[in-house]
Order: sequence, then C-alpha cells, then structure tokens
Amino acid sequence: MVKLTPPMGWNSWNTFGENINEQMIFETADQLVDSGLAGKGYEYLVIDDCWSLKERGEDDRLVADPQKFPHGIKTVADYVHSKGLKFGMYSCAGNLTCAGYPGSFEHEFLDAETFASWGVDFLKYDYCYHSPIIHGKYLYRRMGLALQNCGRDILFSACSWGADQTHEWIKETGASMWRSTGDIFDTWESVKDLARQQEKLHPYNGVGCFNDMDMLIVGMHGKGNVGLAGCSDTQYKTHFSLWAFLGSPLMIGCDIRTMDEATLRILSNEEIIRINQDPACRQPVKLSGFCSDDNGLMYYRLLSNGDLALGIFNLGEHTIRPSINLDEMGLPLSTGKTLELHEVWTNERFTVTNATLSQTLEPFDCKIFRAKVVDR
Ligand code: GLA
Repeated sequence: MVKLTPPMGWNSWNTFGENINEQMIFETADQLVDSGLAGKGYEYLVIDDCWSLKERGEDDRLVADPQKFPHGIKTVADYVHSKGLKFGMYSCAGNLTCAGYPGSFEHEFLDAETFASWGVDFLKYDYCYHSPIIHGKYLYRRMGLALQNCGRDILFSACSWGADQTHEWIKETGASMWRSTGDIFDTWESVKDLARQQEKLHPYNGVGCFNDMDMLIVGMHGKGNVGLAGCSDTQYKTHFSLWAFLGSPLMIGCDIRTMDEATLRILSNEEIIRINQDPACRQPVKLSGFCSDDNGLMYYRLLSNGDLALGIFNLGEHTIRPSINLDEMGLPLSTGKTLELHEVWTNERFTVTNATLSQTLEPFDCKIFRAKVVDR
C-alpha cells in the first residue's frame, strides 16, 4: 500500500486502552460517519493493543478475545466497511505486545495472512519485547514483506518510537508511516515535548512515509487511558495545528461518541486539514525569525499550488510577538512580491506590507496562514 498523503482516522488506545469491545467500535464507526468526521478524511478506524487472547490458538493463529469481540474480528471489519470506512488492527514485532498479548515475532507471514482474511486495511506494528539480537530493521522488513504478500492492500504503520535510528531504515520496509516520538499523554508538557522531539526529524517526512507524532489527544480533557491533567481548548487547537502543519498522520484519540462541540470544530477545520493533506507533502522548514521567548515556534511549508503555509505557535504561558522576515521564505523586497494571508481559525485576511510579518500570540495559541504570493 502506498499512501500518498498522511493517513487520517481514529485509534482506540488513548481513551480506551484495554477496555475495548465490539459495541464501542460499532458506535465509534457510526459516529465517525454521523459527526461528519469521515467526510473530512478520517477514514481508518483502528483497534490498538489488547484485542486478543493471551495465547494463540491450536493452529498457532491469533485469537480475538471472545468477551470483547464475541462475533470475531471479521464481523467488526465488515461493519466498519459497511460504513464506508477502513479497518485497522495492531500487533508487535516482539514476542509480546506492549500490554503483554502475543506479538507477531516468528509469526509474521501467518499473522499477515490472518489479518488479510479478516479484511484488515491497516496494521500498527509496535516494538515492545523485541529480540535483543535481531536489529529492528530486520523485524520491520519481515512484517513489511509479509503484508506485501498477504493478498490484501494493508497499510503498514510502524511504531518503534524513533528508536534505533528508525528514520534511517524505515522507508525500506514498506511502512507508510512511522512513529517518530515516544508515547503521547493528555498534558501540555507532552505536546510540547513531542513537538520539540520532531525538530531534527522533519527532513525525513514526505510523500508515502510520514513521521507519526502519535495519536491526537484533542478533546480528551483528562479522561481515558492516557488522560492525565488534560488541556484547554486553546491548547488542543494548537496541538492539532502543530500535528497537521508538521505533516503527521491525524489519528483521533478521544471518545468521539461523547465529544463536545469545540472538539468537533477543532478536528473538522478544513483549511488546516487541506494543508496537512497537501499533495506535495513537503517537509516543514523551521524559520529563525525573531522572538524574545524560546516558546515561539515558526514554520513554513511550500504547498503544491505555489502557496505557502505559515505556522506560528506559542508553546508558552506568556503573550509573545514573534516576527518573520519574508526573505527567509524566498521573498526579499527585491522580488517585488509579498504575501496575501488567510488565517485558518479566525478567517482573518490581510496582505503583508513590510519586509517582515509580526504577530501577537496569546499564551498557548497559534496562527496558521495559507499565503498566496502576490505583487507588492
Ligand atoms: C506502545 C505504543 C502505544 C500503544 C501501546 C499499546 O506504548 O507506543 O501507541 O500502542 O503500546 O500497548
């Protein structure tokens, strides 16, 4: 499977952890469609860890936990497909999954075949309990090859958290996305930390294999499996904007059956999704600009139609006023050109009149512009 733009969907882990079951998955599938999220591009519904029994069956195959999935996984996949969605599952390159269920080590081809027979379209592949002797690249090559030969188009979502220099070898395994960070938690510190961890990895992001900054915590408000202190709506908006702007897959992690309006509004912003899904998938470029506070982050990206996307983020608790020199993006005054901006959250529109653009940002807020090159 070659996926040309960052995958989008929903994953069970952040909110539900081991508390997953067929009914909840059915309701989530319904809600993905009814809320309009599927129409915005969130197409994969992924069941994470803890779906199987602790032992393989007599035929050595993985067995779904009958308490959680009484009608088996194929029934779940069929239901998800009947809603027009795609269906994802989870396994691990080690002997065990991170939560202690059987992993796919030395069962890669058998498990890929099992997933294919159930109608799986996406496999998240974790890295816990892996062999201390065999390098990760060989473990991911095995499953990558098994998926390519299982008779079904299954997106390979690698999850080795950036360990063992994942960026150097992950593309060769056939992965369409790879976890470039450790696990997310529902706190602002975690969002900040993951955004910073990405900085040196941006050059590795691009068409067909995307840096995965982990599932979104938008709308969790401290509830669920990785729910801790929770964040404010402004912080969730900035977290979403960062992930989308930086070209990460967008996998929702909250309980969408009970999400509030602010959450739905954040997840549904079409302009920021359009930047995330830009067909060129060019890497974000960090701008040095000028900001008196190191919590100010500025990025730009060249989009496929010649527009620029410009993201200005305030990760800190003080109001800041960063400045960006247009020269840094290829527009010195001598070109006679400037930028016409559209801010995707407020719909504010204006044209830059000077050589620099300065913007005031409230604590934890961000501004995301789509910018057109125009005559001065
Ligand atoms: C690891 C992964 C998480 C999640 C859990 C499940 O920690 O990084 O995203 O899949 O395992 O146990």
